[in-house]
Amino acid sequence: MGMKAEAETAPLTRKRLKIGKEINRGGEFRIFEGEDGDVIKICRFPRLMRWVFGDFRQKNEQDLRFLKSYFPQYLPATRIVDHEKNWAVCQERIDGVPLTPEAKRSPQVRKLFLEAEKVYLSTGKIPDFSNPRNLLQETGTGRLLLLDSSVLGGKRWWPIGYLVTRFLGKILFDTLKNRLRTGRGVF
Ligand SMILES: Nc1ncnc2c1ncn2[C@@H]1O[C@H](COP(=O)(O)OP(=O)(O)O)[C@@H](O)[C@H]1O
Ligand SMILES: [Mg+2]
Repeated sequence: MGMKAEAETAPLTRKRLKIGKEINRGGEFRIFEGEDGDVIKICRFPRLMRWVFGDFRQKNEQDLRFLKSYFPQYLPATRIVDHEKNWAVCQERIDGVPLTPEAKRSPQVRKLFLEAEKVYLSTGKIPDFSNPRNLLQETGTGRLLLLDSSVLGGKRWWPIGYLVTRFLGKILFDTLKNRLRTGRGVF
């Protein structure tokens, strides 16, 4: 942990990251093995993302800042780094599984969603829980961890991706609220 904290505050150098084999793929990123137990996430469609969000690195940096200030205990060590002429997300590799139906109704998950609801009411933003693969339960510790550091909501409407994200945030918030009230599991 000490070394991780140090790595996080070290000045970023424009070095070439050591990238291992591809281990997974999401809608936005390809996930590779990195060094020292990290994964490296590289944007799959940089040109499309530029169209949709403008500066996509900046969006990722903002989202990460939001999560670090409101949901630090659910976020694995994550940072945005330079990578060749571009950038990547570097994150502690997590060994975990998506929530089981029982886990979705657990007090721990309920607490996270209540927190998310409260934060949305004050900031207009909400972590992207819409894909169940974004939130894992760590093997061994049982900790809930948010692997996907993108955030929904916000007040922007341009570039167009922000408007979409804003609508998705509202839908997610309404869904959460409804399900927390009716006592049903989320998703
Ligand atoms: N830190 C990590 N450790 C292990 N697996 C990961 C990690 N981050 C992502 N993954 C795997 O890769 C998938 C996609 O990653 P994610 O960050 O959600 O990308 P996207 O933003 O493209 O959806 C996740 O659902 C998970 O299975
Ligand atoms: Mg994802």
